Amino acid sequence: MSTPVAAPVAAQIRDRVSHIETLPTIPTVFLPLLNLLNLPLDQVKLDEVAKLVSYDNTIAAQCLRVASSPLFGLAKTPDSIKTAVIALGLRRVQTILLTCCMGNAFAMKDWTLDPTVFWKHSLGCALVCRKFSEKLRATDSEKAYMAGLLHDIGFPVNCMVFPKEFSAAMTYAAQRQIPLHEAEQTTMGFTHCDTGLVLAQNWRLADDMSQVIAHHHDPGQSDAAQPLVALVHLSDLLCRMRNLGYGYYECQKVDMAHDPAWAVLAREYRALEQVDLVRFTFELDEAMDEISTLVSTIFGNASGKI
Ligand SMILES: [Fe+2]
Ligand SMILES: [Fe+2]
Repeated sequence: MSTPVAAPVAAQIRDRVSHIETLPTIPTVFLPLLNLLNLPLDQVKLDEVAKLVSYDNTIAAQCLRVASSPLFGLAKTPDSIKTAVIALGLRRVQTILLTCCMGNAFAMKDWTLDPTVFWKHSLGCALVCRKFSEKLRATDSEKAYMAGLLHDIGFPVNCMVFPKEFSAAMTYAAQRQIPLHEAEQTTMGFTHCDTGLVLAQNWRLADDMSQVIAHHHDPGQSDAAQPLVALVHLSDLLCRMRNLGYGYYECQKVDMAHDPAWAVLAREYRALEQVDLVRFTFELDEAMDEISTLVSTIFGNASGKI
């Protein structure tokens, strides 16, 4: 949220988002899985995860296909969730499952924003967050992945709840080559961060995820979860710089190392000094084809356009 939203506008957003009938209904396994992700790993039982997933065959099948992607680490498709967990670890399988759930949550035909572009950005950002957090030797890189995946969920909300206004904001942004959240703020008076936060509250997401969704364009506004918000902010910038943005050219000078979010991470993680940004962006370019394949595998059915 670049500028705090005035109280009446905030109430109006809440009202419209809360009453919309097409608000994404999350697959029933999503929230229990997300809650399990918040538990320390030694408290999560493999059987619990396998049982949860057995309620939704589509998600289980998708998960097994995704597990064989080079970006997740298995050479061939595992034959069961249990096999996948043994080979990949519980946390990684949980995040793959949650990714598949997201694909099923936004089953919409008419997106203002091209869904392929949106999911490529979200999945790309999730993978960059995970890689970045591994380089920083942060404790929970799978949580960073989830934060990257969820950070822009306000965009699909805008497509559903404010289609005309959001379409105008997109045109405004593309014509001026400015960041989409700035165009939203100017033309609509609020951004996807505000609508995303309402959805996060509706879904009762954990506070750190809500902070990421609400403040990833201005991490200074975050009063908690600052390193995670800063990590997503920089990963989002990195994706937009490498042509993994919102489908139009953004003309902006980005100096990652002098971004205040960089200082937040430097304070938290000493390993940041060793991160080679040029090499890191090169790795992202190399992963591009695989990201496209994954988007089709996971989100192909959701949009109806891929
Ligand atoms: Fe965003
Ligand atoms: Fe983003």
